[in-house]
Amino acid sequence: MTTYEARPTRYYDGMRYNRCGRSGVLLPILSLGLWHNFGDTTPFEVSQSIARTAFDSGITHFDLANNYGPAPGAAERFFGKMMRDDFKCHRDELFVSTKAAYDMWEGPYGSWASRKHLMASLDQSLARMGLEYVDLFYCHRYDPVTPLDETLQALVDIVRNGKALYIGLSRWPADAARYGYAYLKAHDVPCLIYQGRLNLFDQAPVEDGTLASAAESGVGFIAFSPLAQGLLTDRYLNGIPSDSRIARDGRFLHADALTEARMRQVKRLNEIAKERGESLATMALSWVLNHDGVTSVIVGASSPEQLKKNLEAVASEPFTETQAEAIDDALKLS
Ligand SMILES: NC(=O)c1ccc[n+]([C@@H]2O[C@H](COP(=O)([O-])OP(=O)(O)OC[C@H]3O[C@@H](n4cnc5c(N)ncnc54)[C@H](OP(=O)(O)O)[C@@H]3O)[C@@H](O)[C@H]2O)c1
Repeated sequence: MTTYEARPTRYYDGMRYNRCGRSGVLLPILSLGLWHNFGDTTPFEVSQSIARTAFDSGITHFDLANNYGPAPGAAERFFGKMMRDDFKCHRDELFVSTKAAYDMWEGPYGSWASRKHLMASLDQSLARMGLEYVDLFYCHRYDPVTPLDETLQALVDIVRNGKALYIGLSRWPADAARYGYAYLKAHDVPCLIYQGRLNLFDQAPVEDGTLASAAESGVGFIAFSPLAQGLLTDRYLNGIPSDSRIARDGRFLHADALTEARMRQVKRLNEIAKERGESLATMALSWVLNHDGVTSVIVGASSPEQLKKNLEAVASEPFTETQAEAIDDALKLS
């Protein structure tokens, strides 16, 4: 009998695909996130060239959410145009995710994880993207007030209604996620994947057991912001470039993230990456991907060139013990 463990990984045209938990789905080790650089403030041609570069490089998985923009909804509208103009005949080669639960529209039903919000939001997302279904629908955050069973049953019904093929959870505390995995499995809609932040500067999913409990439950894990929004690249080694996220956007990453201690760590990590013969971005992605249970990293990019550089992580070497120790020491610099 062939087991999941016997067929964990596949290669096609230079891209590596990992099996997602105990499912039939293979995901590319690099996925593309549309949180930034796909909204109304980015020229369409720039977003288009990033998305085309991704697809042409074997990145089959595009990660969206109802509120990605600016304005909220704009990234899904962009993706809808891509589906009409570029990707239409490739629908079955794509694995498209979206999410709901963050603030999206006015009034009591525009946010959080009630059945009402999740179902209405997914219908809006499908309309914006011009899709009949998404491959993966996430509850984007844990809702401490809505009964978990209401949220989880809505996710089950979304799959039963044919509007999503798989379900994922994002940013749920480890114990609530474990409850969710059990509920979904008991209702014959096993959770496909957990989405959480994991990078050299934020190792919470490793420390709080989220990564381990996903693996134990046969659920994949996909890491968001693996480059800490650009901090784990050469972007800020010599100040704040005018075309960077800190200078251009300022919604989620601010100059005060560049403390002296942080920059000492970044500079030391950059030296270690050089010793490995790769960029800091490549090393940072490789570090995340080297954790057991990690299926894929969702990278952001503001240009096709950045994405192409990040694809070098596919060929990155495992870490020696000495390199792993050097990285741990770098992270302790204050
Ligand atoms: N579930 C959630 O709650 C959640 C939260 C956040 C994100 N996400 C998902 O994760 C995705 C990725 O998040 P993220 O954009 O924060 O990811 P990230 O990969 O950590 O950061 C992307 C940014 O890093 C810089 N960068 C990327 N490659 C580079 C390279 N080779 N050299 C230099 N700089 C480089 C670019 O910044 P510049 O713009 O400065 O060039 C780019 O916009 C999102 O799009 C979204 O799909 C999910």
